[in-house]
Amino acid sequence: MERLDKRLAATGQWSRKEAKELIRAGRVSVQDQVCRNPEEKVGEETPVAVDGHPIGADAPVYLMLHKPAGVVSATEDGRDRTVLDLLPAQYQGMGLFPVGRLDKDTEGLLLITNDGPLAHRLLSPRHHVDKVYYVEVDGVLDHEDVQAVSQGVLLRDGYQCLPGELELLPGNSAAYITIREGKYHQIKRMMAARGKPVTYLKRIRFGGLVLDEKLEKGGWRALTAQEIQGLFRQ
Ligand code: URA
Repeated sequence: MERLDKRLAATGQWSRKEAKELIRAGRVSVQDQVCRNPEEKVGEETPVAVDGHPIGADAPVYLMLHKPAGVVSATEDGRDRTVLDLLPAQYQGMGLFPVGRLDKDTEGLLLITNDGPLAHRLLSPRHHVDKVYYVEVDGVLDHEDVQAVSQGVLLRDGYQCLPGELELLPGNSAAYITIREGKYHQIKRMMAARGKPVTYLKRIRFGGLVLDEKLEKGGWRALTAQEIQGLFRQ
């Protein structure tokens, strides 16, 4: 037997605090009876529902991970640790996967879910979800770089990128860069085309989802209900 709020939080959909709020608001039922006590003890198999929707193994999970350098954005890899290896046992074997990829040496925001249709939509080239990165380069960025990014950088292989945004930071060797597509090594290739190779890259935003700076590298948390709704509005 475990506490009702703990059982809800274990799905990854709500934090413990949010679970308590849902319960106190009368939105949670245990065996079809509304239960307003977060400390109520429930068995593993006891049917629990939120707003009438059963929770359990099939319920979708949405997590935010602060990816550290050195792990790969894959579900399994013969050699390297994967982003899924950073999650606790309760999330293994649930069909979770990262939405899109960050390079092994890139840090920052990664959405992890088992909601295939949502992931498909967010990654669809037609959707143009904004991604914002903090980038450091070897060299000094200038207004020509800002202009080139805003017009769409022409990569060395001839690919014409979509227009993005480059916001220079003090010192001009660091910037925020926004792109709306997700080609392989895109930012590294854009900066290489400008003659200023990337030395550090960190994603800080994916659509409306912002990296929670309270998460340490390698840390994760469940998305809030509001963050999940935001993803569906993209
Ligand atoms: N662009 C890159 O070059 N690498 C990433 O990991 C993400 C975007």
